[in-house]
Amino acid sequence: MGYRIMERNLSSEPGGGLVGGGRLAGKVALITGAARGMGAAHARAMVREGAAVAIVDIAAEAGERLAAELRDGGGRSSYHHHDLIDPDAWLGLVDAVERTHGPIDVLVNNAGVQVRSVGIEADDDEWAKVTAINQRGVFLGMRAVIPGMARRRTGSVINVASVAALVGLPGSIPYQASKAAVLGLTRGAAVSYGPDNVRVNAICPGLVVTGMTDSAPSAAVDAMKAQIPLRRDGRPAEISAAVVFLASDDSSYITGVVLPIDGGFVAR
Ligand SMILES: NC(=O)c1ccc[n+]([C@@H]2O[C@H](COP(=O)([O-])OP(=O)(O)OC[C@H]3O[C@@H](n4cnc5c(N)ncnc54)[C@H](O)[C@@H]3O)[C@@H](O)[C@H]2O)c1
Repeated sequence: MGYRIMERNLSSEPGGGLVGGGRLAGKVALITGAARGMGAAHARAMVREGAAVAIVDIAAEAGERLAAELRDGGGRSSYHHHDLIDPDAWLGLVDAVERTHGPIDVLVNNAGVQVRSVGIEADDDEWAKVTAINQRGVFLGMRAVIPGMARRRTGSVINVASVAALVGLPGSIPYQASKAAVLGLTRGAAVSYGPDNVRVNAICPGLVVTGMTDSAPSAAVDAMKAQIPLRRDGRPAEISAAVVFLASDDSSYITGVVLPIDGGFVAR
C-alpha cells in the first residue's frame, strides 16, 4: 500500500476521511506504545502525512512488522525496543531515534496500561505498574525529549490521557489517578516550555475499541456506548486525526489544552 500525499479519501468511514496532505512533511515523531492499538493508528496517520516515525514499544514483533509495513509503503519508520519505565534507557533511545531520522519534532506519549481492579482494592503492584507507565512514563519521555526541542525552539508534545481523567468512572481508580496526573504534567510543561516554543497538549480519548478494551466485559462496553451522545465508540483513526493536528503547524498557537475526543461523553 502506497502513501499518497496531497490526496483526499472520500471514504464515509468515520475517521477515514483524510489520506494524507503532507501536513507533517519533514518532521520526526517518536510515538510510545505504537506497535498496536491507537499508537499504531497514529504511526500510520503520521507517516501518511509525511513524518518519519519512530515506533517505541515492548511488543517487538508487532512493532517491527508495522515499521516494515510503513517502509514498504514508501514511508520512513523504525522500531525501537524500549520499556518506557526505565529512566536510564530514555537518553539512549532519543540518541538512537535522532541518529536514524534527525532531531525529534513530535513526541506522542501514548503507551498506557489499564488495571482490572473494580475499585479501591487495587494492590500495591497494580498501583505501582499503572503509575510507573501511565504517569512516570510520560514524565520520563518529556524529560528526555523536551530539552532538545527547547534548544531548537520547536516541538510538539502530545500526552494521551483519557476521559477517565475528566469524570469519575466506576472502578480502575489507579488508572483514573494516573490519567489525571497526565493533565498536570501537560499543563506544567506547557507553561514551563512555552517560552521555548515547545507546545504540550493532552488528548482524552473516550471509548475506543483496541487491545486495551478487548478484555473489558461487553456489558460494560455497551453500557458506556449508551451514555455517549454520538451512540458509538470511537475509531483509532478519529483519535489520530487530532494527534496529527496537534503535531502539525496547523495548531501552532495551541498549547496547554486538554482535548476530549469522546463522542460527547464528558459534555453530558
Ligand atoms: N482504548 C481506549 O478506550 C482508551 C480510552 C482512553 C485512553 N486510552 C489511552 O490511550 C493509549 C493507547 O491505548 P490503546 O487502547 O491503544 O492501548 P493498547 O493496549 O492497545 O496499546 C498500548 C501499547 O503500549 C505498549 N506498552 C505498554 N507498556 C509499555 C511499556 N512499559 N513500554 C513501552 N510500551 C508499552 C503496549 O505494548 C501496546 O503496544 C493509552 O495511554 C490508554 O490509556 C485508551
